[in-house]
Amino acid sequence: MNTYGWIIYNGNLPGEKFLDFAEMLQDSASKHHSKTSIIKNNELLASLSSKDAALLSVYELPDYVVFTDKDIYLAKQLELLGIPVFNSSRVIEISDDKIATYQLLAMASLPIPQTIVAPKVFYHRSEKQLPNLDAIVHQLGLPMIVKESFGSFGEQVYLVHSIEELEQKVMELYGRPFMFQEFISSSEGKDLRLQVVGEKVVAAMKRTASNDFRANVTAGGKMEAYVPDAKAEQVAIAAAKAIGADFCGVDLLFGSNGSYIVCEINSNAHIRNLLDCTGVNAADAIMEYIISKVNNEGTR
Ligand SMILES: Nc1ncnc2c1ncn2[C@@H]1O[C@H](COP(=O)(O)OP(=O)(O)O)[C@@H](O)[C@H]1O
Ligand SMILES: [Mg+2]
Repeated sequence: MNTYGWIIYNGNLPGEKFLDFAEMLQDSASKHHSKTSIIKNNELLASLSSKDAALLSVYELPDYVVFTDKDIYLAKQLELLGIPVFNSSRVIEISDDKIATYQLLAMASLPIPQTIVAPKVFYHRSEKQLPNLDAIVHQLGLPMIVKESFGSFGEQVYLVHSIEELEQKVMELYGRPFMFQEFISSSEGKDLRLQVVGEKVVAAMKRTASNDFRANVTAGGKMEAYVPDAKAEQVAIAAAKAIGADFCGVDLLFGSNGSYIVCEINSNAHIRNLLDCTGVNAADAIMEYIISKVNNEGTR
């Protein structure tokens, strides 16, 4: 069956990176004989009434949607219209929210840094209430990681060295969702990115920063192609499965004695760096996976 797909990206963010990702997917889709349109999320208007959930002024709906954005209401609206969306709105929502991700990873008994969720507070209250920081330090030790639930490029991840620094950070983040986390010192300045598609790891790279505890490439880290061992692959695939991702980039930290610890899961990980570094175009595996899934479901 010749399928028609939409590739949705964020029309609001600066830079060519997001369009580039969409175009990589489009090229791969056409290799698999599927015609696609690249659409900005803000070109579509989701409408709701007592009659139906719909999209304003759109006549031809696609057979599938590849959703590279985080506009979860739009992704959900497409699902309500009966269109298969990859990744699903639920997966995008969980992956975007690091606390929700760690909750599912913990429930799947997967290795994660020990994490304590900061209780929700309302920032406009004049009286600020702090959690018991002594108990948190007692549990996690120092230095410790403080991490916002929503963030990327390492920009919302902090390393704190003393209880004073910790208190200052908690005040600074007051009202926002964040967590306290064990610092995995064996992984300082380095991590692994494994790209999972379906139940396979299609490519991997190691990222190393020379002068920062965070390995993010955008924070100045270097990347190199990496051949993960079976254990790393197993953890990454299980992590993807735990949140239900069709495809994702799984970041692993190096634990002690050759073990791996899941750091985060990116449901819409950019694959250009991975291609430059490993020569593997993950878009091919992603589109092959999606198109075959759509075709198989269509013939049922
Ligand atoms: N618990 C931790 N212990 C050691 N390093 C960490 C820990 N959490 C994050 N890091 C480092 O910080 C980087 C960014 O953290 P991450 O949770 O992936 O946030 P982001 O979404 O901003 O990339 C990771 O790639 C890793 O190098
Ligand atoms: Mg990361």
